[in-house]
Amino acid sequence: MPEFHASDNKPSWFIDAIFYQVYVRGFKDSGKDGKGDLQGLIEKLDYIQNLGVSCLWLMPIFPSPLRDDGYDVSDFFSIDPSIGSLRDLKELTEAAHERDLHVITDLVISHTSDQHSWFQQARLVRDSKYHSYYVWSDHDQGYSQARVIFPDTEDSNWAWDHQLKQYYWHRFFSHQPDLNYDNPEVQEALLNTMRFWLDLGIDGFRVDAVPYLFEREGTDCENLPETHAFCRRMRQLIDSEYPGRMLLAEANQWPDDLVQYFGNGDEFHMAFNFPLMPRLFLALRKEDSQPIVDCISQLPEIPDNCQWATFLRNHDELTLEMVTDADRDYLYSEYANDPRMKLNEGIRRRLSPLVDHDRRRIELMYSLLLSLPGAPVIYYGDEIGMGDNIFLGDRNGVRTPMQWSDDRNAGFSSADPSMLYQPVITDPIYNYQAVNVDAQLRSPASLLHWLRHQIRMRRSQPLFSRGDIQFLRSNNRSVLSFTRSHQGTTALLLHNLSNAVQPVEIDLSSHISFRPMHCNGVHGFPVITDQPYFLNLAPYESLWFLLEQA
Ligand code: BGC
Repeated sequence: MPEFHASDNKPSWFIDAIFYQVYVRGFKDSGKDGKGDLQGLIEKLDYIQNLGVSCLWLMPIFPSPLRDDGYDVSDFFSIDPSIGSLRDLKELTEAAHERDLHVITDLVISHTSDQHSWFQQARLVRDSKYHSYYVWSDHDQGYSQARVIFPDTEDSNWAWDHQLKQYYWHRFFSHQPDLNYDNPEVQEALLNTMRFWLDLGIDGFRVDAVPYLFEREGTDCENLPETHAFCRRMRQLIDSEYPGRMLLAEANQWPDDLVQYFGNGDEFHMAFNFPLMPRLFLALRKEDSQPIVDCISQLPEIPDNCQWATFLRNHDELTLEMVTDADRDYLYSEYANDPRMKLNEGIRRRLSPLVDHDRRRIELMYSLLLSLPGAPVIYYGDEIGMGDNIFLGDRNGVRTPMQWSDDRNAGFSSADPSMLYQPVITDPIYNYQAVNVDAQLRSPASLLHWLRHQIRMRRSQPLFSRGDIQFLRSNNRSVLSFTRSHQGTTALLLHNLSNAVQPVEIDLSSHISFRPMHCNGVHGFPVITDQPYFLNLAPYESLWFLLEQA
């Protein structure tokens, strides 16, 4: 596959990318304050490069009172001092680019912290410059069709400001007032924020909470035409001033609304595939490929210059907002049997605990992630099968310190353990003495080595990032069978979603006289004839083949 070089800034680099999501505060502490920082991340760039990923996504690094882990921004133009400085960020992006790694950061556009100086001034005087940076009302009855996104914490999207004696609008926590995008100055301020970070050399943004920028009475205040118009302005800025950089949308929406964020190739370059993610977990538990086949077959086409970002887990709860009520109930009953595992409309657990620490199922899920259409996003720590801590509040249990070694504080920090921003995992299964990078680097059969190998296989064939997908007719729904094809090369992918050995007969009649060659390049399978192709798959086994002319 054509390897990409960050320094080339090839405009479509993101189409072939594999992302690694880094929670900077939890990744590596270079000092002794118990909090991860940019210098710590720089120390670990070789590790990230060796994993085989090609782009870092840094979760928010702005100054923040940290009531929503940095998604509550108090200054758009600097870096939280506990994380580092602007100079550190420059050093990081340069060091990453030298290793052919791109770097994108979170950009939180829909709201600020109530500690932001704009809001502090807004609440001083009505009808002042900054007052109109936010959305105010004398009553709390407006926009009543808008849902509450964090129902476990908030019961309204309006909050009372005691100082100003007015209500302000917020879609997330009440300490995160929404910006007023009807005010042209707000739009300009956010565009200038983009310029500021792009000038520092970052390669793009994961744009947070995109659907909620505007409010209109009589609507649910999501995905409004005005919101799309602003997205196009963001894209125009990229195309005209920073070609080669990338915008990735976080829009947790149903497929028809979600694909609108690609526009006609003139809004976002990428969007998270929220519909697919829960259906991967559904298919696994039901031992049935249909939820995946239906989801991908029904997803509207996206423009050629765009790409999905696919993921299994991230820093939030495994969101179940975009599944049917029946599927949500099923997923809760199968994946969250302790009420502490639930949060808002989702499940706050990491990948490995979700699949009962079952190495076969972790590999199966990664195999799906790496072979289905889209650019995979790997959440830090999930490459070694880290656990979570459901006794910590909010989503903190999936944001514990990265487990580097069996040293003090899991090798994350040399601070006094009581100073850590959060405790390391110490439970009997996932404790850092058992689950850590050092141990897995030393063990050739570890999950980490397996994943590195699998990533290398994916990167060796452009068809995994650029190819078409065809689901194959077969006599066994427990086995997901599909091909990916690109420029005359075809891969055959099989995934046994069940806990039992499964025989399967697949219709490969459009590939007669080809031989499935295992992607390891060594093992050739029988040549395809006009008869159904017969295979047995072990429980949770995945098989990757390239079809070669026999
Ligand atoms: C982020 C969350 C955050 C919320 C509010 C989201 O979509 O992923 O972590 O709490 O935005 O900023």
